[in-house]
Amino acid sequence: MKKILVTGGCGYIGSHTLLDLVENGYEVISVDNNARSGTRLLEGVEKIANQKIKNYKVDLCDFDDTHAIFAENDDIAGVIHFAAYKAVGESVEKPLLYYHNNLTSLVNLLRCIEEYKVPYFVFSSSCTVYGNPDSIPVTEETPQKPAESPYGSTKQMGETIIREFARVNPTQCILLRYFNPAGAHPSAIIGEWPIDKPQNLVPVITQSAIGKIPPFTVFGNDYPTRDGSCIRDFIHVCDLAHAHTLAMKYLMEQRNPSGCEIFNLGTGNGISVLEAIAAFEQVNQRKLDYRIGERRPGDVIAIYANKDKAERELQWKPRYSLEDIMLTAWKWEQEIQQETRTFPLKNFKFN
Ligand code: WQD
Repeated sequence: MKKILVTGGCGYIGSHTLLDLVENGYEVISVDNNARSGTRLLEGVEKIANQKIKNYKVDLCDFDDTHAIFAENDDIAGVIHFAAYKAVGESVEKPLLYYHNNLTSLVNLLRCIEEYKVPYFVFSSSCTVYGNPDSIPVTEETPQKPAESPYGSTKQMGETIIREFARVNPTQCILLRYFNPAGAHPSAIIGEWPIDKPQNLVPVITQSAIGKIPPFTVFGNDYPTRDGSCIRDFIHVCDLAHAHTLAMKYLMEQRNPSGCEIFNLGTGNGISVLEAIAAFEQVNQRKLDYRIGERRPGDVIAIYANKDKAERELQWKPRYSLEDIMLTAWKWEQEIQQETRTFPLKNFKFN
């Protein structure tokens, strides 16, 4: 079996991807310092997959510790890199934390991949690299506008670093640009596990609906859109996870003409915030309590994907609908209602 190293394997998308890789015949190992995740999701993956999965509790910002993983696993066929901080709002308040964490970890990882001649590398990028696009849906060729946050800048810079790395290394790379990941595994054994107060719309909806947080705010209904609220492209986390397995397969089939191909991972359906709320209420037969408030700084007005390239090249076809997202997210929220969450204190220090 081909061994894949998944960084951030204890996180939301990382855990779902570990499971999809295992279900598709890959051997997996994870590296995750658990700074933003506990072991809860990894335990859930082990339960569904009925096998133990090794996690190296290592901070990728520490080169020696990262290098030791590759020294111990010189048979790594591919790396999928999720580990990064991704809270847009926090990145605006603490830019250095984001540039240090997201870029130092990436460079350390690429140094090891270069030294050990790891043949395949898949990078977790984001639709934030498009900024506020002039035209939608966006294709992979849509020109990038200035990022709206330091988080988005780290993704733009990360893509540049990888393109330059790919130019001088035989490692075949792929950049996957996610739109808005949401939902949970249908088993409700794994899902989104926000470390703190949730930032993203769908966990805000489900935590508000279950009473974990107060009624939420819709950040603006005066945008130039069909109902005044922002437009997004919500993609189910299981569809997103499977795209990573297909990307690794694409690389192992020696495709990837440019050495660093880019793929949008979205459904191609633009959904407004108010439409997403209505979908939750409808499929879960549950009225939500929220108010309309001021716009949130940094929000993009409208963005959704042209997914043709991923469909054509990766044979990727999203299977889950917006209704499935809202059903599985709510089922997961109810499932974890009784569980407590313990996480290390957020006393970050530059190492
Ligand atoms: C979506 C819409 C909010 C919360 C970010 C990252 C992106 C990806 C997903 C990593 C916006 C509105 C939200 C609330 C609201 N991250 N909203 N009330 O900002 O589109 O994307 O997260 O992969 O890279 O940029 O996601 O869910 O925060 O917001 O009205 O309480 O929901 O204003 O219009 P976003 P989001």
